[in-house]
Amino acid sequence: MNDQRDTSPGQPLAKTIVLVGLMGAGKSCIGRRLAARLDVPFVDADAEIEKAAGLTVAEIFEKYGEGYFRDGERRVMSRLLQGAPCILAAGGGAFMDAETRKLIKEQAVSLWLRAELDTLISRTKGRSHRPLLNTGDPRETLQQLMQTRYPVYAEADVAVDTGADNPNVTAARALEALEQHLGQPLATTP
Ligand code: S3P
Repeated sequence: MNDQRDTSPGQPLAKTIVLVGLMGAGKSCIGRRLAARLDVPFVDADAEIEKAAGLTVAEIFEKYGEGYFRDGERRVMSRLLQGAPCILAAGGGAFMDAETRKLIKEQAVSLWLRAELDTLISRTKGRSHRPLLNTGDPRETLQQLMQTRYPVYAEADVAVDTGADNPNVTAARALEALEQHLGQPLATTP
């Protein structure tokens, strides 16, 4: 049976791409598209943490607190970064952890999905699975997180703006930015 995919002549992905960005930036949405284009697995760090804990992220925060969640997140990120190259959507706080950030810098390529406040607000509105946005005013929380996190996210290897564009367009721009950073074309499926 011929199961060869119809790919372009670029290089296969050699390192995991870690998607960094605030809640609502589109890490899963763009990540899935990138993974499909590059024909590699898409891995969601939050889902892996939930699998390991047997609890949802909201339940972990509620039962054990944020510190416990961050410890689990650090362990899971470290494990995932040792695996085969994939597109890895990190939780919004993962890149803020110095140890995880160091591991990402050593072993992966980081891509920051940079979004304006209004984009983040509209994409997170009406969803209740993110404990940090379930208390207080989400706009204020996100604004504060932008202030503290964006200077650190800016350390990512590649930054791509995400807003009202169609996700396929953003994913195509992300791919282009990655190829530019890597200095070579990547093997992609149409
Ligand atoms: C968090 C982001 C969430 C999740 C947790 C904490 C954060 O992931 O890890 O609720 O600190 O920004 P997403 O960015 O995928 O929503």
